[in-house]
Amino acid sequence: MPQPITILAIESSCDETAAAIIRDGKLLSSVVSSQIPLHQRFGGVVPEIAARAHVEQLLPVVEQALTQAFGKGDPRELIDQNIDAFAVTSGPGLVGSLLIGVSAARTLSLSFNKPLIPVHHIMGHAYSNFLKSDMVTYPFPFLTLVASGGHTELIFSKSHADHKIISQTRDDAAGEAFDKAASILGLGYPGGPSIAKAALHGDLKRYVLPQGLRKEQTNDFSFSGVKTALLKLKNELVGQGLKLTDIQSDLAASFQHSVVTSLVTKTIQAAEQLSVEHIFLSGGVAANTALRESFEAAAKHHGLIFSVPEIQYCTDNAAMIAAAAYAVTQLGPISTTSFPWYDVDVQRQPALRLEIN
Ligand code: KG4
Ligand code: ZN
Repeated sequence: MPQPITILAIESSCDETAAAIIRDGKLLSSVVSSQIPLHQRFGGVVPEIAARAHVEQLLPVVEQALTQAFGKGDPRELIDQNIDAFAVTSGPGLVGSLLIGVSAARTLSLSFNKPLIPVHHIMGHAYSNFLKSDMVTYPFPFLTLVASGGHTELIFSKSHADHKIISQTRDDAAGEAFDKAASILGLGYPGGPSIAKAALHGDLKRYVLPQGLRKEQTNDFSFSGVKTALLKLKNELVGQGLKLTDIQSDLAASFQHSVVTSLVTKTIQAAEQLSVEHIFLSGGVAANTALRESFEAAAKHHGLIFSVPEIQYCTDNAAMIAAAAYAVTQLGPISTTSFPWYDVDVQRQPALRLEIN
């Protein structure tokens, strides 16, 4: 039986500063401070601005997570009395942003003399489905699609110690494609939510856009072709005298349809090849309603069990980092000897390894 454990996790890999506390797999608190308004006018994340905002936000966010979990009190006492271990995203991500979270976590671990678990950001997304209260066991083997701003990967998990990337994007990540498509269509940043909103009023059948690698046997993804096709089509239509505002929604709907269809098709195909029963969706793009609905329907049609996290746990957050750190505790005892603060750094190996097949 693994030891009972309460973990305080920190996430700062990109543009969200986040802290969360999990006790024996049950989430006690989760706080996210989003930097979206700071980066909006630049149309994308500016690394230096992100790192500075993490410096300002990190301690208040950690304090809020402590208060949310245990009530008001001196943060030092709350940590001393309640927290058994810390966890932090050690990569991948923006180096300046990661360093802020990792430095803070190392300092906490050293000063409170408690272990520090380094977590792979993508493994955090992969474990975000286990934040759900109805998820009492881990149904190994399972397949997880992580679709975020920087990654689109299918991960085949056989145990907490065995996670393999079986396919990935050959060019843009799905979220990156949403962000670029939004910019092509003159819609706001971040692109995923603005494309989804525009697509709500659009006709996805009016314009047909290609699906990357549709006819190929591979389970890999590709989104650069649909993005280029969108740019070409938009330029042609505007060149013919159509107003962008009149075609935005239809183009957004067609683009979303193309990305959603290839994500769903390739995942189901891989699940059937691997004979897995459980498929999970995660990452920022998993917040997309059309994608969630399409996955749900396809899984049902193929007799697969499907799960996706609540929307707040799809985009970056520390609850998912806490969930992955909790999985580490299932592998063996956690102590300052097995997980010392000085072993955790941005470039070092995280606790749950993600291998490439
Ligand atoms: O996982 P995440 O918060 O950060 C990374 O690890 O990259 O993902 C952010 C990405 C962005 O590209 C954003 O446009 C996309 O997730 N995203 C969405 C939606 N909400 C966020 N994409 C499609 N539909 C959405 N509703
Ligand atoms: Zn992420």
